[in-house]
Amino acid sequence: MFVVAIVSASGGTGKTSLTANLASLLTRREQPVLAVELDPSNRLGLYLGLTVRNPTGIVDLSADQTWHHAAQRNADHVNLLHFGHGVNTHRTHEKLSVIESRGVRDFLLDLSPPSGCIVLIDTQRAPSLCFDCALAAADLILHVITAQPGCFEDIAVMHAHYERRFSAEPEHAPGLFHVLNKVNSAKLLSDDIIGILRVRLKSKMLRYAIHQDEAIPEAMASNQCVADYAPHSQASHDLQGLADWLLAQPAH
Ligand SMILES: Nc1ncnc2c1ncn2[C@@H]1O[C@H](COP(=O)(O)OP(=O)(O)O)[C@@H](O)[C@H]1O
Ligand SMILES: [Mg+2]
Repeated sequence: MFVVAIVSASGGTGKTSLTANLASLLTRREQPVLAVELDPSNRLGLYLGLTVRNPTGIVDLSADQTWHHAAQRNADHVNLLHFGHGVNTHRTHEKLSVIESRGVRDFLLDLSPPSGCIVLIDTQRAPSLCFDCALAAADLILHVITAQPGCFEDIAVMHAHYERRFSAEPEHAPGLFHVLNKVNSAKLLSDDIIGILRVRLKSKMLRYAIHQDEAIPEAMASNQCVADYAPHSQASHDLQGLADWLLAQPAH
């Protein structure tokens, strides 16, 4: 099992879009994948083309139920676990606290994932308990950023969380990589920001940026992954590159 947490300190950077499309791409390549949603917004199922209203999710399960009871599979055979709606905010917080103290990895192991399974965790933006749970379980952290002035603050915030969590045992710290989404090469400011990021982040910023491409929201609106909806689009090409990079990670 190789756990990838897809995180950011801002909403709308594209975490759920990347999680859903990566899960679809990897599944098509016959790589065992499980997409897990740690975000009360419950969007991942929608992005994967599931239209079930109020699906049972991990925060809806009783203590004697394993996460199998929240598992779903979409038409493309992508396996996913919904977050769920909880009884109320207080109960949801209690459930998350239990998940945090036992550890997401432990709950995932109950599912006996196939060997080499990649678990993609879509998260609520940091700071949040959902984010903390995902960080603690991760073998690799993908921080999704957009090339806007606010990204420098987002990166500083993410590094602060990372330091706080892993400074005591740096040898067990997962890799933290930054991935640019919604890149618009027609914007000069965006080019300048990307130039600065490359100098500052060096190899920690992935070469595989995802361009701004309407194929991403359009594919979602038509209940398809980008690779099916617009196989020759820029976004489809970029996402394939990101999937290749993930599969090439040494620990995987
Ligand atoms: N590369 C992209 N090009 C164009 N639109 C995108 C791209 N990535 C995400 N979006 C759109 O941006 C919005 C926010 O994306 P989402 O994945 O929900 O972000 P998050 O999960 O980080 O809040 C959605 O409408 C999505 O379709
Ligand atoms: Mg999201």
